[in-house]
Amino acid sequence: MYAIATGPLAWLAFLIFFIGIAVRVVLYIRGLDWKLDRVTYTVNTMYGIKGALRSILFWIIPFASRSWRTKPLFTILVFVFHLGLLITPVFLLGHNLLLKERWGVSLWTISEGTADLLTIAVMVSAGFLFLHRIALPEVRILTTAYDYLLLLIAVAPFITGFLAHRQAADYQFWLILHILSGEVWLIAVPFTKLSHMVLFFLSRAQIGMDFGIKRGGMKGKGLAW
Ligand code: HEM
Ligand code: HEM
Repeated sequence: MYAIATGPLAWLAFLIFFIGIAVRVVLYIRGLDWKLDRVTYTVNTMYGIKGALRSILFWIIPFASRSWRTKPLFTILVFVFHLGLLITPVFLLGHNLLLKERWGVSLWTISEGTADLLTIAVMVSAGFLFLHRIALPEVRILTTAYDYLLLLIAVAPFITGFLAHRQAADYQFWLILHILSGEVWLIAVPFTKLSHMVLFFLSRAQIGMDFGIKRGGMKGKGLAW
């Protein structure tokens, strides 16, 4: 089972992940209303690029956008959750050892203590994000079972990876469960709302470009608007 999970299944999961997100990016860009906007976007491209970068930057820095400032506790939770979610799997010693063994390549790695800390941070913040959806009526009304499922898919490899690494119980069992939950994670990204991993950047760029050119960004620069 270990050989299948780290062999063909891992290949399949990574292929679906990378090809899937590339397809989502292409479909998003092709789905834009090119007829309506092409003139001003192609003429005032520099204003557009500036607006797009500004919009992305203000949203990936904690408290830099107004929306992040209105709910400080939630903002901290979301940033801690995402930092652990993105940094841990890429720079984990265990993953890079596997990469080295299979493909002869590896990235820079974080210490085991840091990995444990980030993993705990992801699990704790996911727990609070779960409670946040249950506790606040304005969030609860927008929440469906699908949102809980996605949170669970996102955090599952952290719970199983942590238990395997601690060797608290049956190591083989938790390791296999970890690899399978990691593969579900990878496959879920292109097919679910987790695709915001790339679509976040595209939609922020699109809105930033719009505001950078048409909605006040070029005020006083001779654009009739
Ligand atoms: C093909 C998929 C994957 C394979 C083969 C794999 C393999 C492994 C291995 C061998 C370990 C080390 C266990 C030990 O220390 O004995 C591990 C730990 C871990 N993995 Fe994965 N993994 C995969 C996917 C993922 C994904 C997608 C994530 C997260 C998004 C993830 C997060 C973690 C974490 C958080 C740990 C433990 C961290 C700690 O030391 O506390 N893994 N994984
Ligand atoms: C660089 C990549 C990413 C960015 C910029 C990003 C950004 C965001 C933002 C802005 C939110 C919304 C917070 C709000 O409700 O106001 C969010 C929520 C969320 N993200 Fe990401 N994300 C990224 C990658 C990921 C990945 C890889 C996963 C997991 C596979 C993930 C899982 C989630 C989940 C589960 C939520 C919902 C949390 C809740 O229940 O409230 N994100 N993300």
